[in-house]
Amino acid sequence: MKYIFLNEVDSTNTYLKREYKNFDNLTFVSASFQTNGHGRYQRTWNASEGESILLSYLLKESKYIENFSYISMFTAAHVVQYLENKGIKDVTIKWPNDVYVGGKKICGILLEGEIPNYIVVGIGLNINQSNFDNVDLRHPATSLKILNNGENYSQEDETKSLISLISSFWDNFSDDWRLFDNFIKNHNYLKNKHVKVTNQALLFEGIVADIDSECNLLINNGQEIVKICAGEIEIL
Ligand code: BTN
Repeated sequence: MKYIFLNEVDSTNTYLKREYKNFDNLTFVSASFQTNGHGRYQRTWNASEGESILLSYLLKESKYIENFSYISMFTAAHVVQYLENKGIKDVTIKWPNDVYVGGKKICGILLEGEIPNYIVVGIGLNINQSNFDNVDLRHPATSLKILNNGENYSQEDETKSLISLISSFWDNFSDDWRLFDNFIKNHNYLKNKHVKVTNQALLFEGIVADIDSECNLLINNGQEIVKICAGEIEIL
């Protein structure tokens, strides 16, 4: 494992995408501040200096790249474990890429890359925000500080602690891609919610039934269970 800390960068994801040829599998990059942080669907990801964990890591081994669909759910599961280890309750995964606490977004995950060469896993986790007026988030958000009566956190310490959890997971991983099946099912924020799939050619509504063992979202549209492998979900 290699860890690079940058004071300022355009985006930790973009940095690793530019440099992936020069780095090994499981190279972690974090920054104090991003000038061009971005999320899914070209949204911006804004955070003032020291307010968020801004972390990306590189996966280059074929066994990871072949199992791309699991990586974002595994990352969400790692973030849930990291938050639960801090004693935080009501932590859930909003399929496919977000982590929520008490119904508010605390973390977004963005996978980018070039299959079959590499994947970059980007994690933005709110630690010291106390308001979200300027942040381009479509949903109510929260931070560790808000959850802990206004107490500030160290960006460096929290980043290192999350890196240590993720890197020790992959160091000990023995190709059991079903490892998080139950964990993910039990932390499914969308379960039983009435949702609309908003960004696929086929627009439809339904009630979320489950997440299957291939990390697809299962939605009951009234007639049948529809399997969604990618997309954006709006809660109705
Ligand atoms: C989302 O919610 O749409 C995903 C947000 C991902 C943000 C992180 S911050 C670290 C990494 N660098 C980026 O530019 N994006 C990701």
